[in-house]
Amino acid sequence: MAKNVTVFFCKECGYESGKWLGQCPGCKSWNSFEEASAIKKGNDIKRNIATKGEVVKLSDIKTSKEIRLKTNIGELDRVLGGGIVKGSLTLVGGDPGIGKSTLLLQLCKNLGDKGVRLLYISGEESWEQIKLRAKRIGDFSENVYLYCETNLDFIEETIKENKPEVVIIDSIQTMYKPEITSTPGSVSQVKESTNIFMQIAKKLNISIFVVGHVTKEGVVAGPKVLEHMVDTVLYFEGDRYASYRILRGVKNRFGATNEIGVFEMKYDGLREVENPSEYMLGGRTLETSGSVISASLEGTRPILIEVQALVSATNFGIPRRVATGTDYNRVNLLLAVIEKRAGIQINNNDVYVNIAGGIKINEPALDLAIVLSVISSFKNKAVSSDTLVFGEIGLAGEVRSVSQAKDRILEGIKLGFKKCILPKQSLNAIDKREIEGMDIELIGVSDVSAAVELIR
Ligand code: TYD
Ligand code: MG
Repeated sequence: MAKNVTVFFCKECGYESGKWLGQCPGCKSWNSFEEASAIKKGNDIKRNIATKGEVVKLSDIKTSKEIRLKTNIGELDRVLGGGIVKGSLTLVGGDPGIGKSTLLLQLCKNLGDKGVRLLYISGEESWEQIKLRAKRIGDFSENVYLYCETNLDFIEETIKENKPEVVIIDSIQTMYKPEITSTPGSVSQVKESTNIFMQIAKKLNISIFVVGHVTKEGVVAGPKVLEHMVDTVLYFEGDRYASYRILRGVKNRFGATNEIGVFEMKYDGLREVENPSEYMLGGRTLETSGSVISASLEGTRPILIEVQALVSATNFGIPRRVATGTDYNRVNLLLAVIEKRAGIQINNNDVYVNIAGGIKINEPALDLAIVLSVISSFKNKAVSSDTLVFGEIGLAGEVRSVSQAKDRILEGIKLGFKKCILPKQSLNAIDKREIEGMDIELIGVSDVSAAVELIR
């Protein structure tokens, strides 16, 4: 017998508790618990999914080569690790309006043209609305089916009848299971829906994409709650008011994580950006103080980005520190290193650090560029715009080596950089023959003060 019990879930992270709590022990957010009456399924659920399996030798399992379905959207394939894996469940998260539905509809178009049968299930838009969007993207083949429904029981049935190879769920926050009394979008509904889609994906060997809106404190549970349940998690980031979008793989059971794909939103859908470095550096002002170009490694490929800093005298009270696009605490740490190890007093200044282009980067290899941009702005002396800077900084002020220095340098050369300031250790580790004859001057530094010396 199903028994009704009450549980409480944290809206931010999905932490489950038997009683209401003021602060979530999981994510430390306040007042985030919401009541949900869950159906205690007891043995029912176990009987449903658990058919007794057999033990096999790992070496005996044969895999077929053809398990990845290429979408022909190069940037998406890259983030997925080479295409869609059969029977996988992928979560596509992002702010409302950033382009999740558009991307997935483009995926439908491409795969449909290749003869793959797809079912696009929308709980947010009507047929006409989807058709209007689709018109902007292009002509769709007969393999793409539409279904506007939010009731999971009907959806499950329809998927079984329609037998598509790929299913899109837009969005998970609109789906509901009638047996659960809480509203669609609540933690228990969202979790249960995902669970059902996971079972469908694995049992019927269908690849399912689930859209999840990121919500700043609201009544709707965010995609964070689902991250641990799905195979792959992709996040769409970037300024929704700017035209480019970055798709980042945060979790991938079948490929590398942190791989990114760069898109541009055009009137006819998302267009791939094939050379992101060029794109990120577009529009920068040359020879301005506080601007330093760095190379960050996103997944397997290096991307050049502009680090900007603005240091100005504090007029009143406590100095302000602002970091956009990078870790605030890391910036504070680097400012302390500048004071203590490079002997430059910036404690009476406001410091603003920004990664241009709306991309978020937390890689420590950016440290040296952040430090040099702050000092450059403080001294009002520009770092020459053909200089590339990367390196991690330790608390002792030492500049530590970073991975794949050569790839970063090569990316710089490709975009016409003439100088590169990098960790001495990384410089020593590079095989000189590989970069011989290349038109770039490499300057190895071992500590912050040596790097600061370079800005005069
Ligand atoms: P959408 O995919 O609906 O966002 P999400 O599903 O993440 O909420 O994207 C909507 C935005 O994209 C909207 O502001 C209109 C814009 N857009 C274009 O600029 N060009 C296009 O071809 C399409 C389809 C949408
Ligand atoms: Mg949408």
